[in-house]
Amino acid sequence: MNILNNVDLSAANTLRLPCQAERFASPTTLTALRQTLAEARHEGWPVTLLGGGSNVLLPEALPGLVVRPDLQQYWLSQRQGHVLAHVGAGVNWHTLVMATAARGLWGIENLALIPGSCGAAPVQNIGAYGVELADTLQAVQIMELATGRVDWLSAQECAFGYRESIFKGELASSVVITQLVLQLSRTPAPRLGYGDLAVRLASSPTPLAVAEAVCSIRREKLPDPQVLANAGSFFKNPLVADVLAAQLLQQHPAMPNFPQQGGQTKLAAGWLIDQCGLKGMRDGAFAVHQHQALVLVHFGGGDRQGLMKTASYIADQVEARFGVRLEPEPRLINPC
Ligand code: EPU
Repeated sequence: MNILNNVDLSAANTLRLPCQAERFASPTTLTALRQTLAEARHEGWPVTLLGGGSNVLLPEALPGLVVRPDLQQYWLSQRQGHVLAHVGAGVNWHTLVMATAARGLWGIENLALIPGSCGAAPVQNIGAYGVELADTLQAVQIMELATGRVDWLSAQECAFGYRESIFKGELASSVVITQLVLQLSRTPAPRLGYGDLAVRLASSPTPLAVAEAVCSIRREKLPDPQVLANAGSFFKNPLVADVLAAQLLQQHPAMPNFPQQGGQTKLAAGWLIDQCGLKGMRDGAFAVHQHQALVLVHFGGGDRQGLMKTASYIADQVEARFGVRLEPEPRLINPC
């Protein structure tokens, strides 16, 4: 078992927030993961789970043990005309998307270039360009922290919603996601309805062509975390009552709005921030990205407290102007 002491996690989170883990382990098999968790229980170390670090807000210090599963298995099987992809939690999400698209498999091509690991994907039910992970996910394998027992959850049991799942709620901090099973298909099923995806593609595109078009749109709008630290969308698109959306639309007829079920309408947080004149605003080490107001970037030298101050300022401005409170999308990780 390989447990490291005093590990700097600033390069293990795409926002590059400074964070010192008291101990860190990256087990590569289920057996090693089970042993690592047993050791933590034996020693009384609190366990914090980390994936690709692309959707977390880390504190400056994490006592106990940080575990980042590095399960890299990936294989395909056939079931009733569909292809199932079985993917270990440590596989890079974008690598999986490109590998399956290159094989002519449909299902997750619209989710190209989303940073992070496959194990983190169900936590916030990653989504982009009209597609969510929940659309293809069949099952999730988990290991219980308290017992090391392995179990499976069906997609229904994961209670997926917009950027929501059971892994943010009831099962937060009590299970490790170890494997995903996705249902893909060889039957062409392009979903090109979002934004200007369709105009970038010839008719009858391949899944690889769709994935590449998504990559080019994302590269135009979103900063590459390798170049400029960020966690993608910093705020969730808010869901408001239809009544409030109708009032706002009277005042702002051009406001993007997406009616949902249950009397709610989703608004575009990026548009709300942009309307407040905050695009490109710099506040110390952080800024609102100049091409996409939903993304906060970190130029270096800042910490989580500074970032939360900038985020609160933005949320206050939006609330004062529109009466809508924005909530951060990345998960706040706190010492146990
Ligand atoms: N808009 C502006 N100004 C901005 C940004 C957006 O006016 O600075 C407007 C756009 O013109 C558009 C609307 O807001 O009318 C929505 O913008 P966009 O289509 O770019 O998508 P988004 O709502 O900003 C969401 C996801 C992204 C995902 C895109 C594409 C959330 C929180 N974000 O962004 O996900 O890539 O749709 O599907 O749901 C992520 O989660 O990290 C992420 C990047």
